[in-house]
Amino acid sequence: MSENIIPIAYDHPGCATAAAWAKAPHEPDAQDKPELIARIKRLLIEQDAVLVAHYYVHPDLQDLAEATGGMVSDSLDMANFGHQHPAQTIVVAGVRFMGETAKILNPEKRVLMPDLDATCSLDLGCPADEFSAFCDAHPDYTVVVYANTSAAVKARADWMVTSSIALPVVKHLKEQGQKIIWAPDRHLGDYIRQQTGADMLLWQGSCMVHDEFKAGELAALKAQHPNARVLVHPESPAAVIALADVVGSTTQIIKASQQADAGEFIVATDNGILHKMRTLSPHKLFIEAPTAGSGANCKSCAHCPWMAMNGLVNLAEVLEHGHNEIHIDPAIGRRAVLPVQRMLDFARQIHLPTRGIGNA
Ligand code: 13P
Ligand code: SF4
Repeated sequence: MSENIIPIAYDHPGCATAAAWAKAPHEPDAQDKPELIARIKRLLIEQDAVLVAHYYVHPDLQDLAEATGGMVSDSLDMANFGHQHPAQTIVVAGVRFMGETAKILNPEKRVLMPDLDATCSLDLGCPADEFSAFCDAHPDYTVVVYANTSAAVKARADWMVTSSIALPVVKHLKEQGQKIIWAPDRHLGDYIRQQTGADMLLWQGSCMVHDEFKAGELAALKAQHPNARVLVHPESPAAVIALADVVGSTTQIIKASQQADAGEFIVATDNGILHKMRTLSPHKLFIEAPTAGSGANCKSCAHCPWMAMNGLVNLAEVLEHGHNEIHIDPAIGRRAVLPVQRMLDFARQIHLPTRGIGNA
């Protein structure tokens, strides 16, 4: 682990792992911010670079990506945008698998990230060797992996999908009579299996942020806000999904919040998403879904510790010094691009919109 990891206070004293994950904040002091933003804007131009950000990163980074001709969106749009954009350097403000997907699609470009240690519990829970052995044990299954995986896991797959396209891809495979190995998110896999009736073997990974949403507490909150619509990301447990009015990727639930004829929403996903929701619909009320059960002595914050590793300070540093470049073994990259490209081609075929909100 890097040196600048510092312990931070958590409600639960035993939460050492979460404390270890939390790194020193990469946000500048307020008075330094305008100058730092101006410097990053200059560097992006000088380095022929475009900033591609996820909705879960700090609002400053989301706003900066849009203000400089980059984009903020979900994993599918991020992959597609970096691929289409002419810039020779793609800076990914998100987590490692997002940077790797950009590199897989653009081996000739330079891909930088503010922090290369920004991983994902789904990626960590699906080691390539174990996954490959699992696939070898089921040779008659089509292998579909979620974007939240390493390049080596993607290289073992037939398809890569993101949450915004998983459902149509699996429907399509089922119509062709194919049986599916799904990895790594068990909740998303279970949801897709229920929606499609496909024959699916599920890897048992989960997102440590979405796993924390609690159905009992959500039902109680819903009762207090009877007019609120419940928006849920499908990495959440089945009992939480069962209470949703809309289930979808980050982009899909933001669109739902914009379009729905409602003034109140309960949102079950990383709370970084609220910045975009509130910006697009300032007159609406957005409430975070509960993450602690009754009697719990630990309340998780509903914010991905790895997304939180991205900030203005380390973004400026990587642009200045070219640190933190993503490298992928070329042989793995050549194999991994096949399932990723298959997804992008399929998205075009079914006319799935692949431009984030506010970037159209
Ligand atoms: P989206 O593709 O829906 O943005 O999801 C990415 C992710 O990591 C959610 O936790
Ligand atoms: Fe991974 Fe969950 Fe973080 Fe998304 S929110 S990057 S799935 S740990």
